[in-house]
Amino acid sequence: MKIGIIGLGFVGLSFAAVLGSKGFSVIGLDTDRKKIEKINSKKSPFFEPKLESFLKNALSKSLEITLDANKVVKNCDFIFLAVGTPKLKSGHINLSMLKNASKDIGVSLRNSSKKPIIVVKSTVVPGTTINVIKPIIEKSSGKKNGNGFNIITNPEFLKEGSAIDDTLNPHLVVIGGLSKKPINSLRNFYRKLYGPKIKIMTTNPQTAEMIKNANNSFLATKISFINQISLLCQSIPGTNVDEVANCIGIDPRIGRSFLNAGPGFGGSCLPKDLETMIQFSSKIGANPLLLKAVQQTNDLQIKQIIHLLEKNLGNVRNKRITVLGLSFKENSSDIRGSRSIELIKILLKKKSKITVHDPKAMKNTESIFKNKITYANSLLESLDDCQCTIIMTPWKIYTKLKNSNFKNMKRKLIIDARRILSRKNLSVEYFALGLGAN
Ligand code: UGA
Repeated sequence: MKIGIIGLGFVGLSFAAVLGSKGFSVIGLDTDRKKIEKINSKKSPFFEPKLESFLKNALSKSLEITLDANKVVKNCDFIFLAVGTPKLKSGHINLSMLKNASKDIGVSLRNSSKKPIIVVKSTVVPGTTINVIKPIIEKSSGKKNGNGFNIITNPEFLKEGSAIDDTLNPHLVVIGGLSKKPINSLRNFYRKLYGPKIKIMTTNPQTAEMIKNANNSFLATKISFINQISLLCQSIPGTNVDEVANCIGIDPRIGRSFLNAGPGFGGSCLPKDLETMIQFSSKIGANPLLLKAVQQTNDLQIKQIIHLLEKNLGNVRNKRITVLGLSFKENSSDIRGSRSIELIKILLKKKSKITVHDPKAMKNTESIFKNKITYANSLLESLDDCQCTIIMTPWKIYTKLKNSNFKNMKRKLIIDARRILSRKNLSVEYFALGLGAN
């Protein structure tokens, strides 16, 4: 059995590295030559814990990387499509990479005797596999689904920052297919990979697509819910949103995960998938009232931070503000959809001077802001001379900050969007989202 994986981003590369390290025969394909070169030199093209060591292991065993779609189609029994579906300015998702990859598969399929199972892992709105991808492959291959190939939707639930662990140990596999045989083949593949205990749900492609969208929309809803409570806590002296989350999270009907209040959810998935669901709902004539509220609540969190800042500093023009944490979450260098980037953009419009620090995301941030902001060489240096430090991403290194580290701040004012410092141990002006006044 040979596995092809098209698109070597977080999903595709993690999957390729895990499969290869377990000895599955894998061909990974990407159209980005530089990325291919980097991977072939056993380096991960982006920071993701554990990925590089799994990649090294996989490359030394049974993972091959290529630019050639023909090679994938001619050799593989399963072809996983894991290309990105980023957001367009209109709010819709950009299917161009998925359409191109599908066409390339179809063209190669035309002269191939293989009848692969083509598995869509990329996140798409309900109906895309059947109404968009299947017709492209059928047209470019001259073959029919069910005859020359079989298409299946198989959404992915991994999180950046724990992509390898999530790939090794997913909570669920969802298989959405049009007929039993290919569904069973993919189920058998996953049984071989994960053993008998893994939960596998089978359904049709459009329901599988809806499951993925509903999953991310619900996670976004949970975060906005706790952020709404966080806002209330801030106005009630002595109240602490984490204690609320810890207790309501014990109720098994609620659960503790995704109840960490903060500056709002960012990244390349939750904000995009929420927006896509809103657009999709409107398109099919439904009014996505709740989802819109989730989005508005998310936008409010950054405004809250600005409000706290201006309440304390007054006009922020020409005042130096330090932003700690640029990646959209800890253990990642990814700044796509990062709330920190959004915050910096607003502060720059208000003519603040910005210094930034992040353990992994400085280079990505520099590609956006160039020389408009100051990039500190170290955490301590980033605090020098600023009039406020805003903690945005809960990197472990920031949890260790103590009074003496703030001694060179011009004004010792801290806004902690993630409540990672302990107010009682600090002798600075300390404000946090989700904490009522002392
Ligand atoms: C999200 C989903 O969690 C994955 O299941 C899904 O597979 C993925 O999108 C995707 O569709 O590809 P990801 O965006 O990597 O994963 O990261 P999350 O851990 O979901 O974090 C998203 C944002 O929410 C981050 O900015 C994070 O800081 C924030 N967040 C998360 C909170 O503010 N509070 C929480 O309690 C949890």
